[in-house]
Amino acid sequence: MDRKEFLKSIGCMAALTTLPAIPSLAKIVSSPEGDEEKLTSDDSDVDAKLDKPVTVIIIGAGSRGKIYASYAEKFPGSMKVVGVADINEFRRDFMADKYAIPQENRMGDWSEVFRRPRFADAVVIATPDRLHYEPYLEAIKAGYHILLEKPMAPTEKECKDIVRKAMASPSVVAVCHVLRYSPYFKAMRDVIMSGKIGNVVSMQHLEPIGAVRFAHSYARGKYGNSQTSSPIILAKSCHDLDLLYWMTGKRTKEVAAFGDLSFFRRENLPEGAGERCLECAVEKKCAYSAKRLYYDLRQRTGVFDLTGNRAERGEQILEYLRTTNYGKCAFRLDNDQCDHYTMILKFQDDTTASFSMEGMTSYNQGRITRIMGTQGDIVGDMVNFTVTDYLTGNTLKYESGIRDEHAGGDMRIVRDFVSAVSKGDKSLVSSLIQDSLESHMMGFNAEKSRKTGKLIKM
Ligand SMILES: NC(=O)c1ccc[n+]([C@@H]2O[C@H](COP(=O)([O-])OP(=O)(O)OC[C@H]3O[C@@H](n4cnc5c(N)ncnc54)[C@H](O)[C@@H]3O)[C@@H](O)[C@H]2O)c1
Repeated sequence: MDRKEFLKSIGCMAALTTLPAIPSLAKIVSSPEGDEEKLTSDDSDVDAKLDKPVTVIIIGAGSRGKIYASYAEKFPGSMKVVGVADINEFRRDFMADKYAIPQENRMGDWSEVFRRPRFADAVVIATPDRLHYEPYLEAIKAGYHILLEKPMAPTEKECKDIVRKAMASPSVVAVCHVLRYSPYFKAMRDVIMSGKIGNVVSMQHLEPIGAVRFAHSYARGKYGNSQTSSPIILAKSCHDLDLLYWMTGKRTKEVAAFGDLSFFRRENLPEGAGERCLECAVEKKCAYSAKRLYYDLRQRTGVFDLTGNRAERGEQILEYLRTTNYGKCAFRLDNDQCDHYTMILKFQDDTTASFSMEGMTSYNQGRITRIMGTQGDIVGDMVNFTVTDYLTGNTLKYESGIRDEHAGGDMRIVRDFVSAVSKGDKSLVSSLIQDSLESHMMGFNAEKSRKTGKLIKM
């Protein structure tokens, strides 16, 4: 559909003829020929190329644990998985078999790892949000290097304790702020730090979750209840708060937040809706049908432990839909996470920022970032960004070519972590735990503001 047809279809034909020209915009987008630079990301750097692989134990062999472990599959010379702990037998065995982990190093509860003398260089703590702190305390005591999933812990007190202990230890302790390692965000930060856009005066950042994905993870799924996981501003958005801090190096002075769970509540139950989607009279008309998502489309089934051929997997999915929250009506759960969340922030030098986490979107990735400086600005969508100079109108385009959820950060954090461990050089990691405290404090204070209706001075 061309623009004319599009405007016609939405009843805006008049707008087509009356839209005023915007000379300044035209100037900015039409960069003078020859003045447009192009940068592209180089993916040849993901292997740490170490002399000897760093040995790791994966604690929590779920979705994140599997991602980090896969670095060893890709780059066996740089990392080796020598142990696994997971209370889920299926996941434990799957990982143990895949990485040929000896029988004695296949463990259940995380605590089993620390009942033995240290038997690896590092641990990856990828257990659920409320199970980070205790394994962390044991790991640091035993002298392991630690790659710790975010949020580091769901309370301020635990976070501060984690940081204190890391600062007093020779261990490399990195938090999985994977976006810091993506070529895209690194390049954006480089532009800011180079002074190319002058001083940053303001930022806008949007994190879209996607409505169907929201129902999957934050209504039905493991992050649906903030009391058993952590508030969504930490569980989902602490990456984004971290980016606002890390890209500018500016600490937050004041914060206000607004947000609510508007939609996935019992009062919005569709008329005629059943307890579960498999027995629901209106399932076919519901965008949040679990049957459609998991069984018909076979999407987001990574949360299930499936085996066998397609038909066998189908039967297993149906059983999950009959017996777990994943098959329940999305309006009948004990979820409490906000499905929209907006923060306004003032930094120490009076720079401002607005951040929106949006559950109700058709798209489920591609953070939109706008950085406004005194000499130029940056506009990006997590794959490409454009830097525009106000004086010349010249543009600099960055194209990462990477379209995965974390813009290439997942493997690169492991690369930097194993390099830091191998070389005994903490500076090789760009998300050391002490840096991460700021984003967690931004999240905790946002929650205070949201719940009290007050502006919080940090
Ligand atoms: N960095 C990121 O971008 C990112 C993305 C998603 C999730 N996360 C975080 O990563 C962590 C893990 O998330 P996930 O999606 O992999 O969850 P998951 O549920 O897929 O995996 C967690 C695993 O921990 C295991 N486990 C639970 N209790 C245990 C115990 N007592 N001992 C040993 N193992 C135990 C579970 O059986 C499960 O396999 C969470 O804190 C989450 O918030 C981070």
